[in-house]
Amino acid sequence: TNKIIIAIDGFSSSGKSTMARALAAAIGYRYIDSGAMYRAVTLWAIRNGMVSDNGTIDTDRLVADLPKINIDFAAPDTPGGKQATLLNGENVETEIRHMAVSNAVSPVATIPQVRSRLVALQQQMGKEKGIVMDGRDIGTTVFPDAEMKVFVGASAQTRAQRRFLELEEKGSAVTYEEVLNNVVQRDHIDQTRTESPLRQADDAIVLDNSTMSVEQQDKWLLDLYHKII
Ligand code: C5P
Repeated sequence: TNKIIIAIDGFSSSGKSTMARALAAAIGYRYIDSGAMYRAVTLWAIRNGMVSDNGTIDTDRLVADLPKINIDFAAPDTPGGKQATLLNGENVETEIRHMAVSNAVSPVATIPQVRSRLVALQQQMGKEKGIVMDGRDIGTTVFPDAEMKVFVGASAQTRAQRRFLELEEKGSAVTYEEVLNNVVQRDHIDQTRTESPLRQADDAIVLDNSTMSVEQQDKWLLDLYHKII
């Protein structure tokens, strides 16, 4: 059968990465976490002192550094396993999930030059199709012609609770309130930025997974794929 492009967009911590990865494994497609790319650029900015304590980003220096920043992914060890995000060849998969990065990533993602650089990279990755990509603007900006588009939503509280449990499991000392604050903040910045804001593509199919288990949402997505293909 012909390979297609699958775009999964939605709010932060909506579970879209989990579903996107599971679908990719089930149908033998490549999975790309576009948020990880924004996170890797943000990590570069933090490491190089471009993020001040009050959260201001030194945009000029970061934009000047863009040609020096290379982002790639290492294939997962097992099918359906987690791939590693590589920043100039270094595995930064764990570090890009830290709160310091989560707190600075949405402002970094508003910078037009950062977006155009990463969008170009993402389009390159989708050239051969056979790809599932998740993010905020995949169905609207990166692949407006994607054959399958899904928009995932759930309440901020549900999403914060999931994220909190995930971080707690990893031994992080954050509180639920901190996580909820971060989720609400990111939603707001992502939806109100001028450059490709988070919005549902007109031809996207909406999934509210607030009351779904992981198994239920994986099945929902696979069923949809079989309907489309
Ligand atoms: O998906 P994740 O929550 O890891 O993404 C981190 C941040 O990167 C988002 O809050 C958003 O600001 C930004 N992002 C984006 N466009 C994408 C993916 C992520 O602006 N396609």
